[in-house]
Amino acid sequence: MKKILVTSALPYANGSIHLGHLVEYIQTDIWVRAQRMSGHQVYYICADDTHGTPVMLRAEKENMSPDQLVSKVHAEHSADFNDFQVKFDNFYSTNSNENKLLSESIYKTLVSNNKIEKKEIEQFYDDQKNMFLPDRFIKGTCPKCKAEDQYGDSCEVCGATYSSTDLIKPFSVISGTEPIRKKTEHYFFKLSECEDFLTQWTQSGTLQKEAANKLKEWFKAGLADWDISRDAPYFGFEIPDAPGKFFYVWLDAPIGYMASFQNFCEKNNINFDEFWSKDSEAELVHFIGKDILYFHALFWPATLEFSNYRLPSKIFAHGFLTVNGEKMSKSRGTFITARSYLDTVKDPDLLRYYFFSKLNDSMEDLDLNLDDFISKINSDLVGKFINIPSRTSGFIKKYFDYNLMTKDQFTSDETKALLDVILSNVDEVKKYYHDREFSKLNRLIMNSIESVNEFINNKEPWVLAKQDNQDQPNSDLHEICSAALQSFRVISLYLSPVLPVLTHKISAFFDEEFTHFDQIHISVKKINQYEHMLKRVEKDFVDQMIELNTVKD
Ligand code: MSP
Ligand code: ZN
Repeated sequence: MKKILVTSALPYANGSIHLGHLVEYIQTDIWVRAQRMSGHQVYYICADDTHGTPVMLRAEKENMSPDQLVSKVHAEHSADFNDFQVKFDNFYSTNSNENKLLSESIYKTLVSNNKIEKKEIEQFYDDQKNMFLPDRFIKGTCPKCKAEDQYGDSCEVCGATYSSTDLIKPFSVISGTEPIRKKTEHYFFKLSECEDFLTQWTQSGTLQKEAANKLKEWFKAGLADWDISRDAPYFGFEIPDAPGKFFYVWLDAPIGYMASFQNFCEKNNINFDEFWSKDSEAELVHFIGKDILYFHALFWPATLEFSNYRLPSKIFAHGFLTVNGEKMSKSRGTFITARSYLDTVKDPDLLRYYFFSKLNDSMEDLDLNLDDFISKINSDLVGKFINIPSRTSGFIKKYFDYNLMTKDQFTSDETKALLDVILSNVDEVKKYYHDREFSKLNRLIMNSIESVNEFINNKEPWVLAKQDNQDQPNSDLHEICSAALQSFRVISLYLSPVLPVLTHKISAFFDEEFTHFDQIHISVKKINQYEHMLKRVEKDFVDQMIELNTVKD
């Protein structure tokens, strides 16, 4: 049994959870459930990422304090995750006392290890609002193509990247005034001194191959020191002995993983050090999107290494979600919030299944094609999977009083073989889960489902049932329907990390609870009354969902 601490990236507290985010949380949640079903001890930890300028300004706009905004969003995010069956052991906040203390102590250790340096820099400053401006809050004309209204770091028209000071006619997004340049003292993490350590660590098998290659490119460009401070006003933690200076949100955000876990440990009497000390034998696994690889593969390990904590065992990066082949867009209504899905399509398992069928261990983007979503659900889950009990359980009820034959009672080689092949897949199932090869696993499982349906088609139990009479139950009919249902049960166990809602109903149908893949080795003796378990997706609901998300300008 392994001990594994798993995290998903901490969602920003300045917006709603959308289906793009859910790629990550669903991927992680499936992985976590599968590791538990394989017998490992897993803690799944997350939190809201609360600090920074966007949260501060949004709170101001909504006439609340940042703390009020943060708690409002925390309640929303918690409900969204819960309703999608993403079950964290702790969903905390980076704006917590645990995180403040850990961030301060890590910073102090970095200082004593001589990894922090002060430098004077020049930045854009909004003289009316009295604050320094992050790149996202400066706009102007692109120095390359002269397109107007472009952000301070890159042009959306020609794709050029530049420094905000290169913009022509820059203006502050907040006040609209022209920003002035102002000198200020910032704190830097001397990342350039960590190059040997990071070169070695990033090529040590912790990252996917494609991620490790990406890092080689960044090393070639050279590692710049990392600016970890921001000037007041800033919603965050003040830096010890540096009045008016705050930790940049990306300094305290990953420490939020530790802080959330620490909060969980305190509540549950678990030993924090067993997971975070240098000599920890537990695994530490981070799931992230490819856009935040730089932070997790460079800044974060350097922070841990030079503050005397353990390093991540694995960083699993995934690609980005597109909808109907394009970047999610508010005007097309494809910037789909988690809540709008829950209000229209409703069933979380369907999206979980769709992502499962498409995900793999790479950083490639994945597409949610809405027509494909409808047809895949209706064909795979309704037409094939749930079709197995819906066309066999009635006979077991009517002629055999809900009693199933167990595997050792089967007499025909064909029925035995049907179940044996499905049972023999278990190691492959576990391995595919472990390796995040979800789409391959889906194909394996769909093959099993198809083999059971083919078996039923060939055996035509409805024909046997016609020949049946109540005094002398037909044993062939009993064996065929039992084999189909015992197979269905094993497949349901395999799918339980993906489809928690549906397989919960299925486990109740077999009068048990699915907690471990080893349960495949028992055969159940009885079923309960079969109730309809899964509805088709109607196009209407998907259309309503798009309508809800369409922002008209
Ligand atoms: N707050 C940071 C993470 C800090 S971790 C210490 C952040 N937040 S986020 O809300 O923007 O994104 C949270 C996660 O969702 C990230 O891993 C991000 O890559 C992922 N995704 C956000 N949009 C996504 C898609 N459209 N597609 C797939 N994943 C996406 O980044
Ligand atoms: Zn341009």
